[in-house]
Amino acid sequence: MSEEKTLKISKIEDGIVIDHINPGSAMEVLSVLKINGKSGFTVSLLMNVRTSKGNSKDVVKIEKKNLRKKELDLISMVSPNATINIVENFVIKEKFNVSLPETVHDIIRCQNQNCVTNAKEPVKTVFTMEKKGDKLLYRCHYCERTMTMDEIRNSITK
Ligand code: CTP
Ligand code: ZN
Repeated sequence: MSEEKTLKISKIEDGIVIDHINPGSAMEVLSVLKINGKSGFTVSLLMNVRTSKGNSKDVVKIEKKNLRKKELDLISMVSPNATINIVENFVIKEKFNVSLPETVHDIIRCQNQNCVTNAKEPVKTVFTMEKKGDKLLYRCHYCERTMTMDEIRNSITK
């Protein structure tokens, strides 16, 4: 392909590349990381680009950013197939897939208004993953209410 027809986006020197994000979910990834235009980060965002395998994906590059475990868990809930590339000095030092945590602390808000985690002096939430056929659910440790992945995505990206 001629150069004018090839999509080019700069490599980064230091930071993270979140690759293979579900197509259309890049904004949700930024949302769970609480990154917006006022955060000061240099961010590149690609949406609905073609992969070499002919599928679509989103990509987010954030310069000078580290990710904590909680942030990796949040990304996994928005986009379970995302790949994290940690870049130092232009070189990928580490590459791994996010993975949905078995147990999640203080991330998911329970949708049961009467749950102790929604009380006046709330207890921090704890949810545990369950498989129901090919569907994944997370169950509240306190009231046993379950949440689907769609419900979780809606609640954490708000
Ligand atoms: N990347 C970057 N800056 C760097 C190095 C890599 O922005 N200094 C980006 C690349 O543009 C790409 C992603 O990090 O979007 C992964 O890079 P690489 O592992 O080289 O690409 P692939 O081999 O295609 O990755 P994968 O096998 O994970 O699809
Ligand atoms: Zn609950």
